[in-house]
Amino acid sequence: MILTPLLAMSLGATTLTLDFTKPGVPVSPMLYGLMTEEINYSYEGGLYGELVRNRAFGDHPSLAHWEKLDDSSEVAYASEEGRPRIGVRGGIVNRGYWGIPIRAGARYQARLSLVAPKGVQPATLSLESNDGSTVYASAPLKAETREWQDLSVELIVRKNLPAPITGRLAIRTSRDQETSFRYVSLFTETYNDRPNGNRKDLMDLLVAMKPKFLRFPGGNYLEGNSLAERFDWKSTIGPVSQRRGHRSPWGYLSTDGLGLLEFLEWTEDMNAKPVLAVFAGYTLNGKHIAPGKELEPYVSDALDEIEYVIGDATTKWGSQRVKDGHAAPFDLQYVEIGNEDGFDRSGSYPARFDQFCKAIRERYPNLKVISTTGGKDFLGARYKDFSVAPDLVDEHYYASDWDMMAMATKYDSYDRQGPKIFVGEWAAQGVGNPWGRPGSSSPTPNMGSAIADAAFMTGMERNSDIVLMSCYAPLLVNVNPGGRQWPVNLIGYDALKSFGSPSYYAQKLFSNHVGDQTVPIEISNAPEQTNGKSKLPGLFSSVTVKKKSKEVAIKLVNPMHEFQVVSVVVKGQRLGSEAKMITISGVPSATNNISASQRVSPYETRLAILPHSFKVTLPPDSVSVLLARKQ
Ligand code: AHR
Repeated sequence: MILTPLLAMSLGATTLTLDFTKPGVPVSPMLYGLMTEEINYSYEGGLYGELVRNRAFGDHPSLAHWEKLDDSSEVAYASEEGRPRIGVRGGIVNRGYWGIPIRAGARYQARLSLVAPKGVQPATLSLESNDGSTVYASAPLKAETREWQDLSVELIVRKNLPAPITGRLAIRTSRDQETSFRYVSLFTETYNDRPNGNRKDLMDLLVAMKPKFLRFPGGNYLEGNSLAERFDWKSTIGPVSQRRGHRSPWGYLSTDGLGLLEFLEWTEDMNAKPVLAVFAGYTLNGKHIAPGKELEPYVSDALDEIEYVIGDATTKWGSQRVKDGHAAPFDLQYVEIGNEDGFDRSGSYPARFDQFCKAIRERYPNLKVISTTGGKDFLGARYKDFSVAPDLVDEHYYASDWDMMAMATKYDSYDRQGPKIFVGEWAAQGVGNPWGRPGSSSPTPNMGSAIADAAFMTGMERNSDIVLMSCYAPLLVNVNPGGRQWPVNLIGYDALKSFGSPSYYAQKLFSNHVGDQTVPIEISNAPEQTNGKSKLPGLFSSVTVKKKSKEVAIKLVNPMHEFQVVSVVVKGQRLGSEAKMITISGVPSATNNISASQRVSPYETRLAILPHSFKVTLPPDSVSVLLARKQ
């Protein structure tokens, strides 16, 4: 039975009215993107395809993650012109990041920088079981290398390996004479076959989200614990084997193998735009570079960085990019000055921002400049403290599920006269203090958090005239013990497998199905939910329409633990008779993990609807998008 709006109201059903007679607001084409930094072994042991850990012996201690092949093997460390090297007799073993993935028929490319005495066959590489008893692939390095030489060799795993496993890389050398290594790298197939590229399964998950941009390189990773540990972009470009690497503030070594150019190529592989955060003189130890003369070299460094990204071959840094292998400039439109500078209690940010912003605008007037404080509610200075107004302000919100749901209406009443908003980090983090949870709790969000995330997204979508961009954080987590530094993260993985959390699917649902114009809505008779202290509505929604295809995307978030029938009333338009609904649902504690990756995942239903009024039944604890077409 189809209820007329009046009848639906009188029965007390929730009513959602889509009012096409009123103008909506344009939906920002950049609304949904991704944020990334080196945290939770996001790149090292994650997205970045390197499989050897401590490949250039720059970790602490230098031989960390390397073992002698057996008791009679000998390994000595030395440093030559500041570059670590190790001398080996017998053999060495590396187990990568919680194991090296070994798959039937897979191809691996090893690259080494080494030297061996005359007449000595330098080494044989093999991929083998953890105890070395089974060898899955093996290849000798034959060349004679009396000088330091870069060699590469392919290893191909035999086809009859029944299931993927994790194992180790063993390098066997002469026992009588020393072979020395400066660099040992191992990659398997990468996304788009990029040399020095990214892991395929993780890229597939990211690409499926259809992100419009990638905010990088941080986050705290941009700032570093100290000046020496900031993201110093110039040391992240050039030959990979010569990058020194640096310590991530999250407590482990970054090889910088995923450096500035690789970040940019990653955006290209996702068909997303770069949102480049430049170091702005504040580090996590609370120190800052004084605005003025002292800050000038850092401002120049940022201008050089931008030139590397968008300069043509006639410019110094543009030509460096061309030399590094990328002829075309990247499509950079947004530059962010620093990260969370509201934590700089000295109050220096407005002056630092002004200095960067003026220099950037003078040289690149078309770039949009983002400040990291200045919004209505978020940390530190107000934008009115700046002498030049940012184009966007980056606000970060990590909140409990309840508080995140409560923020669904936050932007309804935001100041439309100030800068636009970039919600550059945000996530619903469950119930209670996420840091207080035992290490064994899920590293990725559950369905309860996905519902809260979705509720918040309805608010950003409805207010996309002011909220131009948003990205969940953190994006990635290696779920092995010790892999995680942040409590709640979107996508989990180990060496072999990966999975999207319920929040991942909520993000994907929202970003895959969004129009270019909002449709004003009204919700009436919705049930109420309470946490004992306060009350919130029991339905969240946003509706957008694509002008060209006329597709109407109705987002419906049901936080109630029971079915909810919603009467949809359409004013000023007719909808076609067929609709598709894509839903994720599950009890609030439901989550995915490495061995149950699809427990919560989207499913589709088809339904017949009427042009002006129809009912839709939402499963308990669910996030849905109903796709219909304007006639
Ligand atoms: O996303 C994790 C961290 O949260 C980011 O590095 C930082 O910007 C924020 O405090």
